[in-house]
Amino acid sequence: MAHGHQHQHQHQHQHEHAAHARGSDATPNGLPEILDLDAALFAPHLTALTGRIACLAGDDVRSVVDLGSGTGTGTFALLERFPTARVTAVDSSPEMLERLASAARDRGLGDRVRTLEADAGAGLPGVADADLVWASASLHHLDDPATALAGIRAALRPGGLLAVAEVDGMPTFLPEDGEPGALERRCREALDGLHAERLPHRGADWGSLLTAAGFSVEQERAEPWELRAPLPEGAGRYAYLVFERVRDSLVGRISPEDLAALDRLVDGGPEDVRHRDDLVVRSMRETWMARRPV
Ligand SMILES: C[S@@+](CC[C@H](N)C(=O)[O-])C[C@H]1O[C@@H](n2cnc3c(N)ncnc32)[C@H](O)[C@@H]1O
Repeated sequence: MAHGHQHQHQHQHQHEHAAHARGSDATPNGLPEILDLDAALFAPHLTALTGRIACLAGDDVRSVVDLGSGTGTGTFALLERFPTARVTAVDSSPEMLERLASAARDRGLGDRVRTLEADAGAGLPGVADADLVWASASLHHLDDPATALAGIRAALRPGGLLAVAEVDGMPTFLPEDGEPGALERRCREALDGLHAERLPHRGADWGSLLTAAGFSVEQERAEPWELRAPLPEGAGRYAYLVFERVRDSLVGRISPEDLAALDRLVDGGPEDVRHRDDLVVRSMRETWMARRPV
């Protein structure tokens, strides 16, 4: 019976991995749900961040661009923060934009959101005089930061604000001491190697790049976003989805033992992150607030 269950589970797991393998870079499986869970779990942190933006941008923000919007974390947080604002959500993925537009309709916000499918690194067609551009976990995806920042600067009105947020790597969940923490550190290291090849601007010195692009950097901050027990609903599912993606990305890049250890975190068994009560969700966020000079 136990063996049958394990077999069924392995089969299901293989099936899930095969499904992941079918995803493209533009529409990676699991990512939209991870982004939505990230927004829900860290909602209080996000509220504090949009509060900081309001201190710099003022309350009269009407025209906002969410650059690399994903499923709309920034779009919805900023619509709430600035009640008279409209947001143009820009993304290269039509699936992300469809999901965002549908969520906007569900929330009764459809008339305040416009979606724009575009490569945000090549300028923002039809966007001008924006009061605020928000770019969260997106700038490092763009091919050439200097060209991208010039396009953003051109889309802002003089005096307008660019808020950049970047994450310093995969979030962590396991107790830091002992083998679980060591496993996560090895995974983060292996992911850093992968990203260095595929996303060379991840971890770039955005402060210097912003200054070089003609922005005036008014704030630069790194802060840990952390969730401890009692964890909000969805934290286990978030950990599960992150480890699934990490596991799939690192096949051939970590040892078979580490791969097996990752499998045990998502296999429904006793170590599965969905059932554990010792998780701490940690994610380091870096932010830059930069203004287009008047
Ligand atoms: C990690 S997600 C971040 C989403 C969202 N900003 C958030 O904080 O939840 C990165 C997003 O950037 C988008 N993206 C990647 N390259 C892009 C490009 N060249 N132009 C526009 N969007 C891009 C991806 O489709 C994805 O939705």
